[in-house]
Amino acid sequence: MKIALTYFSATGNTGKMADVINESLLALGAQVDIYDITSYADRQKPIDLASYDAVVFGSPIHSWRAPRVVRKWMRTLDGQGKKCSMFFTYGGFGVHPTHYSTRQILTEQNFAVVSSAEFPGAHTFNLGGWKALENRPDKSDFAVAKEYAAKTYKRFIGEDSSILGELEKTKYREEELDQIETFRFRILTQLPTRNGQGCGMCMICEESCPTGAISAETGEVNKDKCIACLRCVDTCPEDALKINDMSETYAFKLEMEKATNEDLEKKQSKIYL
Ligand SMILES: Cc1cc2nc3c(=O)[nH]c(=O)nc-3n(C[C@H](O)[C@H](O)[C@H](O)COP(=O)(O)O)c2cc1C
Repeated sequence: MKIALTYFSATGNTGKMADVINESLLALGAQVDIYDITSYADRQKPIDLASYDAVVFGSPIHSWRAPRVVRKWMRTLDGQGKKCSMFFTYGGFGVHPTHYSTRQILTEQNFAVVSSAEFPGAHTFNLGGWKALENRPDKSDFAVAKEYAAKTYKRFIGEDSSILGELEKTKYREEELDQIETFRFRILTQLPTRNGQGCGMCMICEESCPTGAISAETGEVNKDKCIACLRCVDTCPEDALKINDMSETYAFKLEMEKATNEDLEKKQSKIYL
């Protein structure tokens, strides 16, 4: 069984889960090739799906769905009727339309989705002062990831012939979810800025940006292209990129979601079969 494991991970949570899932699949006897599709350049490289028996798609949740660049990339694939599975990491807030809407895309691209999973992870905006799930994913999440890999593998090899069952539907149409994404982006996010000091012109921010939004030369961020994934802030070796303090929006976010920090801490990884 040859599996392509693809993932997008701006700040490392999804990458950590991909590592655990990869190790588990290898231990079960699968042959796995990993495709990190986070950077713009990596998403331009074609994957020869014909040479794989099954595909695993890993992604963070950005405003209730897979990030728009991931959705766009998925829409370029031809699933050729192959089995696939999805997994997501999220910062402890809203998840549900993500499984549903991503399955819809993958089904339209001619994949048969057999399973899905969600894993809580430190919220990206902790880089700006939020305090959501600071120590996740942890070993409890890794244990669920192993179980997810084992159950998914059984479905891939046909030992379990079921496919992914009913998922919670969303009442929103794609266009409405686009509007929600734009609105949340406007009120909650901060664009990265360079403080002008310490930048060694290593170019990592520009090379690793998922959307080609940042210029290393000028330090400017194109606000129409930036998806606020904060990969540039996370990967800058000189700590020269920052976002403004977002602590106040965290209190606002908790209020908006009618949640407390303790509620978030209770979030558990979950497998969908
Ligand atoms: C623009 C943006 C939107 C996000 N939206 C959500 C969300 O709707 N619900 C949630 O729980 N977490 C949300 N998060 C948090 C990420 O899903 C979470 O931190 C994820 O694990 C990051 O994965 P990565 O480290 O692999 O990039 C969002 C993060 C960003 C940057």
